[in-house]
Amino acid sequence: NASLKGRSFLAEKDFTEEEMLYFLDLAADLKAKKNSGIPHRYLEGKNIALLFEKTSTRTRCAFTVACTDLGAHPEYLGKGDIQLGKKESVEDTAKVLGRMFDGIEFRGFSHKTVESLAEHSGVPVWNGLTDLWHPTQTLADLLTIKEHVGHLKDVKLVYVGDGRNNVANSLLVGGSIAGMEVRICAPASLWPAQEVVDTAKKYSDRIMITSSVEEAVAGADVIYTDVWVSMGEEDKFAERIELLSPYQVNMQMIKATGNDNVIFLHCLPAFHDLETAYGREMHEKHGLKEMEVTDEVFLSKHSKVFDQAENRMHTIKAVIAATLGNME
Ligand code: CP
Ligand code: NVA
Repeated sequence: NASLKGRSFLAEKDFTEEEMLYFLDLAADLKAKKNSGIPHRYLEGKNIALLFEKTSTRTRCAFTVACTDLGAHPEYLGKGDIQLGKKESVEDTAKVLGRMFDGIEFRGFSHKTVESLAEHSGVPVWNGLTDLWHPTQTLADLLTIKEHVGHLKDVKLVYVGDGRNNVANSLLVGGSIAGMEVRICAPASLWPAQEVVDTAKKYSDRIMITSSVEEAVAGADVIYTDVWVSMGEEDKFAERIELLSPYQVNMQMIKATGNDNVIFLHCLPAFHDLETAYGREMHEKHGLKEMEVTDEVFLSKHSKVFDQAENRMHTIKAVIAATLGNME
């Protein structure tokens, strides 16, 4: 698909349904190649910068392994490693990186930073999560849904929890582009911004935004949730726990779908395990044992979260190969 070459991936709306489906088909193909040990070094000799203002397990590892499998060199540039944001502007950093690297991944706070990198670097830029969108996550989610539900069209995807965060925004728009029926279930103060809803409505007339769990989950094919407090919002804990406790994904919610084959997805990391330092801290401070999802659901047959995590790598590989490589 020659039309993808040289393009950045900042948000789902940058691509058509056809292009998104192409990424998914390519990801499935690269996954099969990886699993059979067939080399796929489409980016031989390329250099890729991985910029991270926030921590990451999946996104960082997915980009690193994807680059390596494709024959490219990944260079991790963490917060505090480079001049960006302290001694040097985003624009100047973009111009310098663009002279040396063939592509740039960025994870950070402001969506404007990733837009500026794309504008000034002259090379493809991929959004590895900003305050507004998490588009490479959506691609992995769509691939996982395709694998487990069998198709994307008309799939009822219910996102429960913080309806205003990057993952909710991306699913609302990305799911709508893919022809799914997306329902956002959250307290009214955490509904997606009108601008995001308007963007999704360009693709779909079957969007539901509701505070009623009962209404949202009926007939669901997919129940999706994310953390109640995203990176950078740690001061909002008490308020979010208060607001979102009725939106916890538990077995009662899974049963209320009426669909025994409903799958559970979570972009991860998930708060369901007290054995982490974070878990113990939250337990001490807020008396919580579980937050957005119970252990029972997380470990159940419905949960496909680790397939989803693995698919980050295959889908990111597809995006960087298609926008940078020689796929012909
Ligand atoms: N889902 C996701 O983006 O995970 P990381 O924060 O670990 O990259
Ligand atoms: N909404 C979460 C997603 C983490 C992958 C955050 O921004 O922290």
